[in-house]
Amino acid sequence: MLEPPVRPIEWCDDHVRIIDQRVLPKVETHLDLTTPEQMADAIRGMALRGAPLIGIAAAMGVALEARRSAGEDLHGFRDRIAKAVALLRSTRPTASNLFWALDRMQAALEGGSPVESTVVLTDRLVAEALSIYEEDLEMGFTMGKIGVDLISQGDSILTHCNAGGLATSGFGTALAPVYVAARNGIDLRVFADETRPLLQGARLTAWELARSGIDVTVICDSAAHLLISRGRVDIVFVGADRITLSGDFANKVGTCGIAASANARGIPFYVVAPSSTIDFKMERGCDIPIEERDASEVTHVLGVRITPDGVSAYNPAFDVTPAELVSGFITEKGLIEPPFDQNIAAIGPGRPQIR
Ligand code: MRU
Repeated sequence: MLEPPVRPIEWCDDHVRIIDQRVLPKVETHLDLTTPEQMADAIRGMALRGAPLIGIAAAMGVALEARRSAGEDLHGFRDRIAKAVALLRSTRPTASNLFWALDRMQAALEGGSPVESTVVLTDRLVAEALSIYEEDLEMGFTMGKIGVDLISQGDSILTHCNAGGLATSGFGTALAPVYVAARNGIDLRVFADETRPLLQGARLTAWELARSGIDVTVICDSAAHLLISRGRVDIVFVGADRITLSGDFANKVGTCGIAASANARGIPFYVVAPSSTIDFKMERGCDIPIEERDASEVTHVLGVRITPDGVSAYNPAFDVTPAELVSGFITEKGLIEPPFDQNIAAIGPGRPQIR
């Protein structure tokens, strides 16, 4: 496996070190988190974000609680872990990966003998959090190797939000094929939508691609349709926060419009996401809970008010793209093509690789 382009999170035994994504690209700084409460604040406050990364971070938050509570009696230990899991579950509602990772931590706690010592349980919870992290690295690299086959020499790739290394353990999802292509010597260019309101494209995607020497051009969100309709985009790669069994999926608000433009022009539109983003219990996109964030993220840009005093704003953080606009889902288990209502379920937990 290649070295990932960025390491947004590190387990450091008595703390978790994260890149503070709120202040990038102006300031490159880390935060050291020692409690699940601090981790929950970091997730809610977007110091770290991106579906796979918030799952990893939540798992590490539970592991921090285990270390803090290892001196408790067994009953107290289990109680404190349950409270940490509940707190971390409440941070953000849309991304499947968060609930998938916390379910794994819960299962790690409940597995084994009911009378295990808190020391044994702590070791198991820390090991599970580290496995979730390592598996995400592996999945990112694998998706990169699968997705690179869809990229041709000289391609222009459009992406939305940040589905790169910063949104994961390090390789990214939508950007993983881009990193593999660049390392294979394929000449390409990325158009990054700026992604209002929090500018994940302009700040984060541009930052991580530029520092890897990849040609990146930031465009206003509203310019994406023009570029697509004028033939300036060869392929679209986006990430996802939740994929349903029908193939409808949620991603950063604005994604659906890009999918519609790409579809109208016959431009391939691919979703790159690990299987941890698939909600195997949810049939359709209309059931996905959409996070609504504070209006101040819309009324202000980088802390400066841009709307008149007293004017209200509405801030849904994600939208849902219907399956019929999607060319395929690139997962670590292979490329899933239509009919999605059969082919997504077929890679369900424990199922074999597609190819
Ligand atoms: O609100 P964010 O920044 O967490 O939203 C992130 C996205 O929408 C990403 O595209 C998605 O999580 C996939 S990340 C690999």
